[in-house]
Amino acid sequence: MWTPSSPEILRRTGGRRIRSIVFDEATIARRVAELGCEVTAAYPEGDLLVLGLLKGSFIFLGDLVRKIERPVQIDFLVAASYGAGMESSGTVRLLYDPETVLEGKHILLVEDIIDSGKTLQRLLGLLRARRPRSLAVCALLDKQRAPEPAPEVRFVGFRAPPAFLVGYGLDHAENYRHLPFIADLDS
Ligand code: IMP
Ligand code: MG
Repeated sequence: MWTPSSPEILRRTGGRRIRSIVFDEATIARRVAELGCEVTAAYPEGDLLVLGLLKGSFIFLGDLVRKIERPVQIDFLVAASYGAGMESSGTVRLLYDPETVLEGKHILLVEDIIDSGKTLQRLLGLLRARRPRSLAVCALLDKQRAPEPAPEVRFVGFRAPPAFLVGYGLDHAENYRHLPFIADLDS
């Protein structure tokens, strides 16, 4: 069992201490497997396109799709919202737009974490305009700070504490995405 001062962690962070491990590897793996079952059951038929929001969702999406037991297609969206800070700027820029046709398909947007919900609201508007057969969101973490949760948020891995989290895809200024667990960054 790793603790914040384990050498395995300090090697990965370059010596920077984390405050605590919030979700460890085994806990994440168990929940992601359950989410895979939920997604499989929710789409009995039709084309399913899993659309990952980069970069934060890359590890989660990689693990999730391997637990989905039906045909899927995979593409990505790249949106920029945060810069190097810890607060959402409210503006979302699309840097990469999926090339796959969305019209007539079930779209499952995969997000790392929902904080204010601004990123999500903006993207859902863009995606709805492409006339998918259905549009739903699967978020690994939800801080439940969004004023009203979007009706599309159908699958959530964990309720997240109001801390700045890193690891398993989540970054702080592009660092710590590669940590195999989710940690509260000591700031
Ligand atoms: P929102 O627009 O406020 O919901 O912010 C969502 C985006 O901000 C996520 O896709 C993440 O990229 C980033 N974000 C929000 N909270 C955290 C956090 O605790 N750690 C790392 N990134 C976060
Ligand atoms: Mg980010």
